[in-house]
Amino acid sequence: MPNAHDYAKAHADDFKAQLIDLLKIPSISTLSTHAKDVERAAAWIIDDMTRIGMTRAEIFQKADFLPLVYGEWLGAGEDAPTVLVYCHFDVQPAEISDGWDTDPFMPTEKDGKIYARGAVDSKSHVVAHLKAIESLLANGGAPCNIKLLFEGEEESGSEHIFEFVAENQALLKADAIVVSDGSMPAVDQPTLVYGLRGIVTMQLTVQGPARDLHSGHYGGNVHNPIQALVEILATLHDENGTVTVDGFYDDVLELTQEERQTLTPIAPFMEQEWWDVTGAKMAWGESEFLLHERTGVRPTMEFNGIAGGFYGDGFKTVLPAKATAKVSCRLVPNQDPQQIYKVIREHIQRVAPQTVTVTLDELEMGARGVLLDRDSAPMKAAYDAYLRGWGVVPIFSREGGSIPVAEAFQRELNTPMVLLPFGYKGGGAHGPNEHVYVEMFNKGVQTAIHFYEVLPTL
Ligand code: BES
Ligand code: MN
Repeated sequence: MPNAHDYAKAHADDFKAQLIDLLKIPSISTLSTHAKDVERAAAWIIDDMTRIGMTRAEIFQKADFLPLVYGEWLGAGEDAPTVLVYCHFDVQPAEISDGWDTDPFMPTEKDGKIYARGAVDSKSHVVAHLKAIESLLANGGAPCNIKLLFEGEEESGSEHIFEFVAENQALLKADAIVVSDGSMPAVDQPTLVYGLRGIVTMQLTVQGPARDLHSGHYGGNVHNPIQALVEILATLHDENGTVTVDGFYDDVLELTQEERQTLTPIAPFMEQEWWDVTGAKMAWGESEFLLHERTGVRPTMEFNGIAGGFYGDGFKTVLPAKATAKVSCRLVPNQDPQQIYKVIREHIQRVAPQTVTVTLDELEMGARGVLLDRDSAPMKAAYDAYLRGWGVVPIFSREGGSIPVAEAFQRELNTPMVLLPFGYKGGGAHGPNEHVYVEMFNKGVQTAIHFYEVLPTL
């Protein structure tokens, strides 16, 4: 009797080669100069979908938008459940000068890992699902119908997928949604991720004098905009790391005792991963919350970048005209990005010194956090799938990152959803030397096959 799992094992080298092939395409969605590469990656996926026997493979792309790939195989029949799987195939920018040991778009295998931009975030997820489906279709078909929605602009804020989801509810109709992205905090410990944080991003600008000035003439009599900027930024947190903006925590869903217990098993894994990866001196943050709670359950405000004045070689005794900071907040249910932006703006207006002009501009990236039902059928299927794919009982987790479309699925499609990550959290997503463990990719293929097999039995 042919078997999809054996087929996947027999074709593991071939599957890895295909992942490497996709990783060579620099499908960077945040740089318009790479729009053609995002299209090339979409075309690669369409080719593979067609080759493995999906009955529909289509690119949805409006003018000036990056492509969205839709694929379907409905061969299990009307009585079988339908799964909608979401992954993204675009990546963050990467240059060797960012600190990579190898070219980020020349995938390099070393010590059981493949180093390349997009390896863990998130092309290994895309290919794992395609190869799981290939394995099933080459061995008599899948027991459930499968719809695939692969996005090409997740890393740039998912601007257009919201409209697509709202306008294509019939196309996306399913009994279960699988969002396959994100990560687990240990290579050997699968997690059932039932929460993601949302996000809101903004830019704070402090305009001082009309032009850069000689600091000898004007230092001490013109308020330096860099100084004003850091004075403002310093009012946003207290020494415990708690955000001091009035109303910031108003809508935060409190952690219950029951949930706190549910999350306890993840604690040692998150702490170990923290020490292994961060290289920071010691943990920091709200003392009344454990490290994994600060990551998954609590909202934050981060300063992502700060600019102003002269910082080239040598020295310039300048009093700069302007200083800016990029600021983002990770949000949790039930915070609303617009409301958070509003309370921060009010705070900034209140503390802004009279001596300078302060503006806060909201940037386009925004998403609400999500919290998923831990008892749904897809969650049970994910439990079984991880148990079989990894051979280890999975534990619950709430992740700190954001997948903007997840909340749109929840709001528009009213379908039980599960997150199904296959990569390691320490895999360097967004940073230098991003990598995926080949073993985790292989287990991901097996886990995906198990998921497709188990779901119809529940
Ligand atoms: N794969 C991540 C999302 C993620 C990260 C989920 C960590 C769970 C844990 C995704 O590709 C990502 O990076 N999302 C961005 C979204 C932003 C650009 C709107 C993020 O979280 O910064
Ligand atoms: Mn990412």
